[in-house]
Amino acid sequence: MGLLHTNLVMFFLLLCFEPLHTTAADSSLPSGAKALDATLQHYAHNALVKPKTGTIYNAQLPSNLNGIKVSALRLRSGSLRRKGYPNYNEFEIPKGIIERPYVERLVLVYQNLGNLDLSRKYYPLENYTYLAPILGLLAYNGSDLSTRNLPELDDVKAYGDPVLIKFRNVKPVPSGAVAKCVWFDLKGTSNFTNVTGEGNTCSTSQQGHFAIVVESPSAPSPAPAPAGGGGGGGKKSHKKVWIIVGSVLGGLALLVVLLLLVLWIQKYKEKKKMQQMERAAEVGEALNMTSIGDTMAPSATVTRTQPSLEHEYAP
Ligand SMILES: *[C@@H]1O[C@H](CO)[C@@H](O)[C@H](O)[C@H]1NC(C)=O
Ligand SMILES: *[C@@H]1O[C@H](CO)[C@@H](O)[C@H](O)[C@H]1NC(C)=O
Ligand SMILES: *[C@@H]1O[C@H](CO)[C@@H](O)[C@H](O)[C@H]1NC(C)=O
Ligand SMILES: *[C@@H]1O[C@H](CO)[C@@H](O)[C@H](O)[C@H]1NC(C)=O
Repeated sequence: MGLLHTNLVMFFLLLCFEPLHTTAADSSLPSGAKALDATLQHYAHNALVKPKTGTIYNAQLPSNLNGIKVSALRLRSGSLRRKGYPNYNEFEIPKGIIERPYVERLVLVYQNLGNLDLSRKYYPLENYTYLAPILGLLAYNGSDLSTRNLPELDDVKAYGDPVLIKFRNVKPVPSGAVAKCVWFDLKGTSNFTNVTGEGNTCSTSQQGHFAIVVESPSAPSPAPAPAGGGGGGGKKSHKKVWIIVGSVLGGLALLVVLLLLVLWIQKYKEKKKMQQMERAAEVGEALNMTSIGDTMAPSATVTRTQPSLEHEYAP
């Protein structure tokens, strides 16, 4: 009973806290960088009501996306190629940008995650610390704004000079550390380049998400890796492993609880049956006794030679 009790408690704890934990995190913010991109694209698109070509429109975001800044800019493809767009917030877009396949108009969506916590959350980087929040520049097919979701363009490149990203409010580099630019491509793969300019400029020939980071001092991570091995998968695969381990353990716990429940029910049934049988036996015994008594009484009067009865009734 004690074991069953603790298992039941554990089971209900699992039931109650697991969903609470995940829904609390997921209901307010999109989960994952791709989902965030899609959400921000949606609000950027909403900002383009009868847009003027070449004008930056700032998107209105709901309160759960507080702190994030999103803009939309619609350009003719030819104009982007010939002139670029020298001042799209932190991005300096040179001439020579070409998309493949060709589209008549593009929408360039600008993102600024606004703070380092969100940057870490959506773009986790093992062993690195963010000095500036993630900035994003993503290109969409802007030929038809009446579609609900603008189609992404995945091949847009700077064939001449690179696009420059001039970060504002970069945190000071810790002494002894070297700042790096990090670039996440559309698949989320990261790559590092040197910071240029006055320690605040990164350059890129492609779209994606960008930030300035430094290597973290090698402090022991709070959760040590379950198995050794040379990097590669990084945080995502660790998370996966933990999710799998968690599910397996949870499943096992559930199984044990169910088993115990079944056993307990069986035991309970048996006990009940036993009790019923006992009761039946008691009633039956009583009946037997009286019937025996009835039949005994006359028989006793007949045969005096049997001493057993007298023995039985004696104290
Ligand atoms: C861009 O959108 C237009 C209008 O919907 C469509 O005709 C064209 O095929 C699209 N181009 C690409 C490369 O997706
Ligand atoms: C990552 O950057 C290095 C140079 O810093 C470059 O040689 C390499 O091709 C880049 N990788 C990808 C996938 O673009
Ligand atoms: C980046 O900086 C390091 C040291 O400051 C230097 O050795 C390296 O050549 C640089 N890489 C590029 C691609 O400029
Ligand atoms: C992070 O640093 C630790 C310890 O220096 C190292 O074992 C691990 O491979 C690093 N992770 C990545 C993704 O480089």
